[in-house]
Amino acid sequence: MGGTCEKGGSIQDANRGSRQQRKAEVNTAQESSMAVPEFLSKAELLKQGAEARVYRAQFLGKPTIVKERFPKRYRHPVLDEKLTHRRTVQEVRSILRCRRAGISAPVIYFVDYNSHCIFLEEIVGSSTVRDHIASTQWSESCKEQKLEQLAEHVGQILAKMHDEDVIHGDLTTSNMLLRRGPKDVASDIVLIDFGLSYISALPEDKGVDLYVLEKAFLSTHPNTEELFEKLLKSYAASSRKSSAVIKKLDEVRLRGRKRSMVG
Ligand SMILES: Nc1ncnc2c1ncn2[C@@H]1O[C@H](COP(=O)(O)OP(=O)(O)OP(=O)(O)O)[C@@H](O)[C@H]1O
Ligand SMILES: [Mg+2]
Repeated sequence: MGGTCEKGGSIQDANRGSRQQRKAEVNTAQESSMAVPEFLSKAELLKQGAEARVYRAQFLGKPTIVKERFPKRYRHPVLDEKLTHRRTVQEVRSILRCRRAGISAPVIYFVDYNSHCIFLEEIVGSSTVRDHIASTQWSESCKEQKLEQLAEHVGQILAKMHDEDVIHGDLTTSNMLLRRGPKDVASDIVLIDFGLSYISALPEDKGVDLYVLEKAFLSTHPNTEELFEKLLKSYAASSRKSSAVIKKLDEVRLRGRKRSMVG
């Protein structure tokens, strides 16, 4: 659990505050952007993406991932600022909503809306579900059983997330981490990368969310149609409102097929 920092505070304030108040998960530091770039200059850059940079650092004495959404020069500055701000807000909001519902997502330690940085709990020693599936597909021993269990687990988590009306917006197996249990068994799936997420109760939005995952899943992991069906079955069995969602998924699939036939 992270510490608190008043609006207008700095990372130093957050560190001080954390000793006093450890209850709140989110810190805001709207006028502290001077401190954040300095902090990031000493952090380890893990990934430079098209939209964000991901760093690893120690914050409040804890292993931390910092996700920084930087300005995009090709966009109008006002629009860019608006979009970047919105994605940061959406990411924080959905992570908190998931965590409140008992769905694993990283703890948020600190948010800076000036530099558009989110400081998150690092899921230490984790691997992405993508890498895990790929390596399990290569291994020989009980791979079907292991992969089916994993797919069922993912289906249950997504059902829970959709029952909370959280639409992830970018469901891929790279945006799911496997937290290693004490015996080094994959014990917990942690959802990440909520920048395109939003709140909606519409079955259509949930169906599209699953469709995005299906497309990503089948193209990333060849010959996994049956595995993905297992995931969907588990989703349908776990979600309170799954029948309307699966119906919409079928409609979206049909639309997708028609579109690809037309060209
Ligand atoms: N909390 C975390 N703990 C451990 N690793 C993390 C965490 N958050 C992100 N990562 C690592 O950084 C990678 C990129 O993070 P994320 O998906 O949030 O950013 P992104 O810029 O949207 O990346 P992408 O374009 O690949 O989706 C993840 O695939 C994961 O390997
Ligand atoms: Mg990602």
